[in-house]
Amino acid sequence: MKKITPIIGLQWGDEGKGKDVALLANTLKENDVIVRFQGGNNAGHTIYKNRKCFVFHLIPSGAFGKAQLHMGGGMVIDPYSLKKESEMIPNFQDFTKKLSVSPHSVLVLPTHCLIDTVSEKNLGTKKIGSTGRGIGPSYTDFVWRKALRVGDIFYSDFKSKYEVLKEEHRKTLNKNFDYDLNTQEFKEKEDNFFEGIEFLKKTTVRNSSELIERALSEGREVVVEGAQGTLLDVRFGNYPFVTSSHTIAGGIPSALGIKPELIGGALGIFKAYVTKVGEGPFPTELGGKKSSVWCRDVKRDEENEKYPNPNPNSIDQFEQGIALRKMGSEFGATTGRLRRTGWLDIPLLKYAIKINGVDKLSLTKLDVLSGFNEIKVCIAYRINGKETEEIPFDLSREKIELVYKSFPIWKGRLSDYEKEVLPKEALEYVKWLEKTLGVPIIHIGTGPLEHHLVKRFW
Ligand code: GDP
Ligand code: IMO
Ligand code: MG
Repeated sequence: MKKITPIIGLQWGDEGKGKDVALLANTLKENDVIVRFQGGNNAGHTIYKNRKCFVFHLIPSGAFGKAQLHMGGGMVIDPYSLKKESEMIPNFQDFTKKLSVSPHSVLVLPTHCLIDTVSEKNLGTKKIGSTGRGIGPSYTDFVWRKALRVGDIFYSDFKSKYEVLKEEHRKTLNKNFDYDLNTQEFKEKEDNFFEGIEFLKKTTVRNSSELIERALSEGREVVVEGAQGTLLDVRFGNYPFVTSSHTIAGGIPSALGIKPELIGGALGIFKAYVTKVGEGPFPTELGGKKSSVWCRDVKRDEENEKYPNPNPNSIDQFEQGIALRKMGSEFGATTGRLRRTGWLDIPLLKYAIKINGVDKLSLTKLDVLSGFNEIKVCIAYRINGKETEEIPFDLSREKIELVYKSFPIWKGRLSDYEKEVLPKEALEYVKWLEKTLGVPIIHIGTGPLEHHLVKRFW
């Protein structure tokens, strides 16, 4: 029997998963399926179609291909956000025919979003850096067995169940955070939510397991698109600075209700450097603590004003980090926040490859490094004087020294290399990565557009 292909982010999200999914979608046929299995509209997956930019938050990134699109049972769905996102897609009517949603996916209520943002505010400098999309509170209600799911909207008691849950949230907001729900602003959010529910009622509802197992048994392709990244996995990421779902390939069978043996080797997506939005440990961050506080407190315009021309080769690592952010356009696709930036971290990457069963890799944004005089890669950690590739239980509690290796930079822009060529230094670097990671790199991203891609040719 055919197996599904998981497409999984190997870092802290935003590796460029959307672009790889869209690329694969171009090769799929009408009865093939692209599935999102977890997360919600905390995700922001960017693709370019005919040079026009689209960011998908809930819908699988293959909306412009022929394949069926499915939002799986492990997802949390904000109905109004889904409606808005769907309406953005050209040929809306054709697109909705391809879209289905699992009855098991959990509804994100407007009060979930409020609890998320208000409780984060309350945490002050101890916050997680959540996207504020209600992800944590909706998954919490789910495992607490209180959530409303997509299948519930078709029963006559849906509205009354909604009111019960809302009342509980109202009390929580009031007691714990001194927040009053009786505002015009909330009323508008609630109206939007029910507008979204009406949209959901018109969307095809299908069991993920039935849809996927049937497709596989008929020999069709099933691609499963991960959201977030391995280091944001609720159990195996840097807890508590994680999202609230299992982002790793091992989360797929339970999210979709399919046999574990149907999961094929994963395509792991990683950037040529590392970025992170939100709080938490980030060993190779350029500028360290100064950068993390800066990215937490400063807005994009303010950074632009203060550092209009940051030098990637400055002796100040903090400035190098700003330059990397600018060169890579590293600003949140969902929230617009500054993404923290740093050098590639091989120990973390090897960990991610191991736990996801990655058997092929896509290296993205190699072009972004062109502005540096040399490339640095962290090849090991030194903890208590001992060199290791082991990831400690809690990254934020260990004093980690980093062991770096440097590589020479190539001349010119990689986006000019669209065919099966790369400058010698870039190819040497890619081959070193393959050897070190023990997994073939099948795609190299040389720019954001569809054609900015070099396929494995060596
Ligand atoms: P995702 O969440 O993993 O889908 O990634 P995001 O869309 O949040 O962030 C990736 C960003 O990098 C987007 O702006 C993409 O357009 C862009 N991108 C993807 N691949 C490449 C690449 O190879 N080079 C460059 N320069 N940009 C890329
Ligand atoms: P894609 O799919 C990058 C981060 C948030 C925060 C933490 C928890 O585009 O790669 P949450 O809202 O989930 O409670 O936030 O996780 N985060 C992401 N970072 N890319 C994402 O998605 C993310 N989704 C959540 O910044 O640190
Ligand atoms: Mg993203």
